[in-house]
Amino acid sequence: MWWWMWFRRKGDSGFSASSTAEEVTHGIDATSLTAIVTGGTSGIGAETARVLALRGVHVVMGIRNMEAGREVKEAILRDNSIAKIDMMELDLSSMESVRKFAFQFNSCGLPLNILVNNAGIMATPFKLSIDSIELQFATNHIGHFLLTNLLLETMKRTAIEQRKEGRIINVSSRRHQLSYPEGIRFDKINDKSGYNSLSAYGQSKLGNVLHANELARRLKVTDFLSCC
Ligand SMILES: NC(=O)c1ccc[n+]([C@@H]2O[C@H](COP(=O)([O-])OP(=O)(O)OC[C@H]3O[C@@H](n4cnc5c(N)ncnc54)[C@H](OP(=O)(O)O)[C@@H]3O)[C@@H](O)[C@H]2O)c1
Repeated sequence: MWWWMWFRRKGDSGFSASSTAEEVTHGIDATSLTAIVTGGTSGIGAETARVLALRGVHVVMGIRNMEAGREVKEAILRDNSIAKIDMMELDLSSMESVRKFAFQFNSCGLPLNILVNNAGIMATPFKLSIDSIELQFATNHIGHFLLTNLLLETMKRTAIEQRKEGRIINVSSRRHQLSYPEGIRFDKINDKSGYNSLSAYGQSKLGNVLHANELARRLKVTDFLSCC
């Protein structure tokens, strides 16, 4: 079965699509690191928060549903009583909420080594966000784009002070290859006509990929260190 072979095939890292977060981080002591994980209330975000905390990372979950967040936090603490895990309210579909989250985080004096832009919605019916942006694009791409920009100075400062490279992870999807035919419909993002929920999801995930590529280009370690 080809898909099983693909699933198990190891890449240059020595891991495959079937590797778990625990396997990938086995033996790593990350007690000096701080991470933000968006959307930690379920799925990939909850598992990322759990395993980062297991390796000693101080994890701050950026979540909109505080009750669901509390349940995840309690479950993590049940298995790992010394986990350093906090929650802060964040609704990525609202620029005001993103700004408030970033302001509060930047004001609390914590370092920031890792930002996991994970939260996402998929194939939702057409709807505009509170800022009048198509909801999937607003949540999956714009919210994370703004959040990253607002946290970047803290990440740079942490990298310099600790002399450790930071990491920004945009959780995209293979669906980024299945956006609209023109890629990102820059002139029609908020247009209901021609809206296709899966293509709009792909469009938002393409945004995640392009954002990550540009961050990688702009934040190359050599350029970064030489300008600091
Ligand atoms: N699962 C897959 O097979 C797969 C494949 C490819 C890519 N991905 C990507 O992986 C990421 C995680 O997916 P998942 O499968 O783990 O999904 P999930 O279980 O549905 O979790 C999504 C998370 O995002 C949060 N979220 C949604 N809208 C939000 C908003 N406006 N503000 C803050 N948080 C919000 C949800 O919080 P609430 O509890 O408040 O809803 C939840 O914690 C997504 O970016 C998705 O596109 C997943």
